[in-house]
Amino acid sequence: MDDLKAKYLSAIADAGDESTLEDLRLQAVGKKGEVSLKMRELGKMTPEERQTAGPALNALKDEINSALAAKKAALGDAALDARLRAEWLDVTLPARGTARQGTIHPVSQVWEECTAIFADMGFAVAEGPQVETDWYNFDALNIPGHHPARAEMDTFYMHRAAGDDRPPHVLRTHTSPVQIRSMQDQGAPIRIIAPGRVYRADYDQTHTPMFHQVEGLALDKNLSMANLKWVLEEFFTAYFGTKVKTRFRASHFPFTEPSAEVDIQCSWENGTVKVGEGDGWLEVLGSGMVHPHVLRAGGVDPDKWQGFAFGMGIDRIAMLKYGIPDLRAFFDSDLRWLRHYGFSALQVPTIRGGV
Ligand code: PHE
Repeated sequence: MDDLKAKYLSAIADAGDESTLEDLRLQAVGKKGEVSLKMRELGKMTPEERQTAGPALNALKDEINSALAAKKAALGDAALDARLRAEWLDVTLPARGTARQGTIHPVSQVWEECTAIFADMGFAVAEGPQVETDWYNFDALNIPGHHPARAEMDTFYMHRAAGDDRPPHVLRTHTSPVQIRSMQDQGAPIRIIAPGRVYRADYDQTHTPMFHQVEGLALDKNLSMANLKWVLEEFFTAYFGTKVKTRFRASHFPFTEPSAEVDIQCSWENGTVKVGEGDGWLEVLGSGMVHPHVLRAGGVDPDKWQGFAFGMGIDRIAMLKYGIPDLRAFFDSDLRWLRHYGFSALQVPTIRGGV
């Protein structure tokens, strides 16, 4: 019995893992284990022999069982220690930058660039609703009901309920109604820009049913086309970061007189446009001196005040500056496109940063 005891206690002490321990348990105290077999022999013994052998065997079995339990606990503790050492984690480390950051859409970026440049020239930002009355969108801008410009604008109408025969609201077709709203709110003198969404039923590589314009309006005592030209050339030079020649072409808008469409200088080389070089021209905006009817509609006396207005396509100048070929992709929400053409949220446009 002493041999058995010595054998198993040292084997248990040496066991390196739980499965070795389980093998030892079966060999010693399992149903067919050595100690169990010895216990079966008790029946063949004399009562005197049994009296000493019985308790001794029970004690041996208990001793082996508690050695097994102690070793099992020790192995478990060691395994836990090893795991704690291996899985050590410094919770004071800064977080890893695994979360994908979104990007600023080119339209938002250019919108902010325009705002920064015009703000530097004293223009404040004004706003108006995207669902407009036909009066603000057309009549107040000297476009009466029969005028062809209404039809040409591919207007979206907001239909009234059956039996309601007031004229329908429209999705504004341009930012020019903000001229009227700003004059009504602030009167003259005034110097505002109005960036915003506009809507026309049109869809191809350079047209989407929703797009963006920035309107400009400046009224004072002596403003002329010369001031308009300076402001626009100053704007393009700041925006494109290079001196850009402009070309004013006589044109017609019901709300300006005289009116001019403005082109900027560009070159076309194997399919790509470069602004500020070459001898090509690209149309980017409409402009002119605000028509007296429009001043009157805004509550401004045309005998005292005069000034200029312009309307420019934000998406259009974004495409030109950042070399984006298809306008439709602007509004597809394709993440690959957004990551490629988008801007970091920290790249805030400023004049001192070169916009
Ligand atoms: N509203 C005109 C357009 O959308 C642009 C414009 C604005 C022209 C202001 C002249 C003056 O085409």
